[in-house]
Parts: sequence; structure tokens; C-alpha cells
Amino acid sequence: MKLTTDFLVIGSGIAGLSYALKVAEQGSVLLVTKRDIDFTATRLAQGGIAAVSTEQGDFFAHTEDTMVAGVDLPHRDIVDLTVRMGPKVIEDLINWGVEFSRNEQNEYDMTREGGHSERRIFHAKDATGREIERALVLAVQNHPAIQVLENHIAIDLITAAKNLHEPCAINSCLGAHVFDIEGQSVVTIGARFTVLATGGAGKVYLYTCNPDVATGDGVAMAWRAGAAVANMEFMQFHPTTLYHPNAKSFLISEAVRGEGAILRRRDGTAFMADQHPLKDLAPRDIVARAIDHQMKQYGDDCVFLDMTHKSADYICDRFPMIYETCLEYGIDMTKEPIPVVPAAHYLCGGVQVDSHGESGIRNLFVIGESACTGLHGANRLASNSLLEGVVFARRAAETSLQRLASSPAEFPSIAPWDSGNATDSDEEVIVAHNWEEIRRCMWSYVGIVRSNKRLTRALMRIQLIQQEIIEYYWNFHLTSDLIELRNIATVAELIVKSALQRKESRGLHFTLDYPERDDQNWKKDTVIPGATFENLSQ
Ligand code: SIN
Repeated sequence: MKLTTDFLVIGSGIAGLSYALKVAEQGSVLLVTKRDIDFTATRLAQGGIAAVSTEQGDFFAHTEDTMVAGVDLPHRDIVDLTVRMGPKVIEDLINWGVEFSRNEQNEYDMTREGGHSERRIFHAKDATGREIERALVLAVQNHPAIQVLENHIAIDLITAAKNLHEPCAINSCLGAHVFDIEGQSVVTIGARFTVLATGGAGKVYLYTCNPDVATGDGVAMAWRAGAAVANMEFMQFHPTTLYHPNAKSFLISEAVRGEGAILRRRDGTAFMADQHPLKDLAPRDIVARAIDHQMKQYGDDCVFLDMTHKSADYICDRFPMIYETCLEYGIDMTKEPIPVVPAAHYLCGGVQVDSHGESGIRNLFVIGESACTGLHGANRLASNSLLEGVVFARRAAETSLQRLASSPAEFPSIAPWDSGNATDSDEEVIVAHNWEEIRRCMWSYVGIVRSNKRLTRALMRIQLIQQEIIEYYWNFHLTSDLIELRNIATVAELIVKSALQRKESRGLHFTLDYPERDDQNWKKDTVIPGATFENLSQ
């Protein structure tokens, strides 16, 4: 099947939905998403969205906190523009129907999280993402110009170079091939503008609080199409996910520490005061490393997050979802500390984009967690991600609309999908086995503490698995598991290669071989150019 649209949006979290809403007044939008429209990381976001509350707010302090958390690697111009657009995008969200929590004076109730020097986080109790996703999905579903295709997973982008089978002076994106998971067929979509808003890649690691869809699809597709990626070594580990055999890494929001919770060892000793002046509210990389160290030093499986000094009424009112979820696992957080461990949470690197969200491929925009805008540097400041998603969606939408007004009306003709001589696989176990092996390998060798030896070992294993996947990919019919496996293998390799490049420790990248920060040589992004046309045509 072949479809055409003005705007193809891949992904349905805050970035994809808000881009779709911004451009839908001027053209047709096709929004493609892998599962149900609200099965996204946005929906799981608890803490909130960081933004100073008025035009007079302290933008400078928000910028400084972002620079400090990102260990001086964030691009100051990008931080500044993002922070300054905060009030405008909060207004957009409110206009689309998002209801943030208010205090007794009916003002917006601002909370605090790690690395923030003041209260500047809009939230909807402890389920901010759920509220944002609810409102935006409703607005999208009610918009006549937006068509949604659920249960469709993008396979690869269509570029001018690939379409013509030769390198182009300026490569541009013409759309994507998408796999209809229920219909088991490939849809070819031609688009004037293609937007990747596919979220992060937590599933590259064995333990993650990300949803199952977080398989780095956008990063892998853009890189294969020839776009450069940057800062892929900076995978953020959230310090506090629930430690319970059945809990599948349920997040315990940093806002819990923002409202006074304390990290303790099994014997009750609080340990963050020795680590950082901000104690339990130190930036995330520091807290995650401190927990990892405590667990290794004392041979414990977890540490404990204690909020029992606050009243039960307060806890139940402020954190109703976390309270209820912990209770389901037999933990009453009003009476006992919550057992917690770090887990993979957020990819700070991604497809390298400019200040309008455009990648190195013309008309290919990448927004949200799949992008590296320069905002996060070596470690993302808590609650800056929802802000970045909606700010860059708006900037990408403005640029696309300006270009739409001056671009030719005709769509180029696109070659259809060619499935070659693929047959049905008789060894699906290979896919499941390789998934497990990559995730375990990344957790063991490319986690919170790294070394050259561990990284080299990981690279060798992943490259072997890659060969097997490529062979499998060309010989057998597509499944969504196979498409995702190919993507996590690509992303895993990009993370390891970036980590091997950075010969210092900074933020989320800590290596025993270079334990110090090296500003002279490494105060810069690690960039891996996109796959070359020759590689692509193999
Ligand atoms: C949290 O609620 O702790 C997550 C917020 C974030 O990752 O920004």
C-alpha cells in the first residue's frame, strides 16, 4: 500500500503529538505509532515539566542549573532558548487541555527535583505524563486533519539517495516504509516532512523504567539513513526505581526526594550528605553512582528511600500513584522505606539536530528523546525532557510550516518496498536470544561504571550479534520484534563506540581508565557520522 501526506509524524509522546497539533492547521498529518497511541514514555513521566512560571521568572537560574547538571557540556545558546520558551509552551499545553496541580491559593503548585536550585516544576500530582498524554491524545483524535495509524512500526526512512540509488549533494527525506503489525504488510508513506519522535532506548539495557516501545527506533533509522548522532554515551540511570521481583522497574519519582525523602542504607544510615552539598537532591549521575557504590560496598541488592517522617495524609495526597503502586507490592511508604535501585531511564544523546530540530538530512526533523539538541550535555536536569520535547516540536513545526509555504506541491515518486526472497523464519528463538544477550551485555559492561576492557568486550559481542541480525533480517519476513532487535543492536553499538571515544569521565559517562574530567580535550560532543551510502546499499 502507498500513502502520501504533508507531515509524517512517527511517535505519539509529547513531542510527536504537539508537533502534529501545531502543523495540522496548514496541511495533512499522518501520525504513526507502534502500539496504542498512549503507550509512550511520556505517559509514564511522573515528576513534571520544568519551566519558570512567568515571563519575569528566573531564566538565568534555570539555565545555570541545566549547565551544572550537564557538567558544562550543554550548549548554552540552546539551553537559553529552551528555558525562555518555557512559559510559552506551558501555555500551549494548558490551551490543549492539560490540567496542572494547583495549591490552596489556586496558583500552580511548583515542585522541586534533583539539581534544581528552586521550585520550578509544573506537575499533575505524581502522574504528570499521564495528564499531558490524556489531553494531547484527545486533541489529536478530535483534529480533522490528523490521521492516526496505531500498531504500525517504522522500518526505515526513504531518502533521496536511497530512492535514486546514488549519493546526493543534499540528501533529503521523502518519507518512510512502515510495517503494519496486524496486517503483516509494508506501507510506503511519501511525505514532504518527516518527524521522528520515537522516544528513547532504555530497552537496550536489561533493567529500565522505560516502556517496552523504547527501542531507539528513531536514532537507528536516522543513523542508517545517513544522519549523524551525538553524545550517545550519556545514558541516564534514574537513581530510584522500585526494587521488587515483580515490579518491572517501576519509577519512584525524584519529586519524592524533592519533597524531603532521604536515601538510606539497609542499616538506616543516610549516605548522600557525604557525597554532595545538595545531598539527596544532587544531580542524578551523582546519586546513581553513590547508590551503585553503596550496593557494591555493602553487598546489598538495593538501598532504601525513606519518607516516613512526613504525614501519611500528605504522602497519599501528593503521591497517590506511587503510594498505591508500592502498596500493591506490599510496601506501605507511609510506614516503611521503599527499596530502590537505579535503572536505565533517559538517553541524553541522539540524532544531532540544529536549533529547529532538523537533522543532517533535509526535511527530517527529530524531536524529543531521539534527538541530541545540545540541551542536556553530559547529564539531563530532571524534568527538562518534557520541556525540550514540546519546545523543539514547536520550533520544528514553525520551520516546516515556513518551508511548506514555499515548497513545490508535487510528491516525488518513491520506489515501493522490496521484500526480496524473504521466507518465514523457522528459528524465532534467535530473535529472543539476541535481544536478551544485548541487554545483558549492555547492563554488565556499559552501565554506571565503565572501563576500556568492559567496553571493548561489549563491542566485540555486539558486532557479532549484529552480523547474525543482518543475515537474519535479509532472509526472513519482517516481524516487529525483528525490526526492534535490529534497532537496539544499532543503538547499542553507537553507545559503546561513543563511550570508547570519550577518554575522560563526565556526568553519566564514568570510566575507571580516565576517572577525571578533561576540559582541555573533551569539553565537546562525541559525534558519529551517519552510515555511508555504500553501507546503506548493502
Ligand atoms: C522523575 O519523576 O523522577 C522523572 C522525571 C524526569 O526524568 O525528568
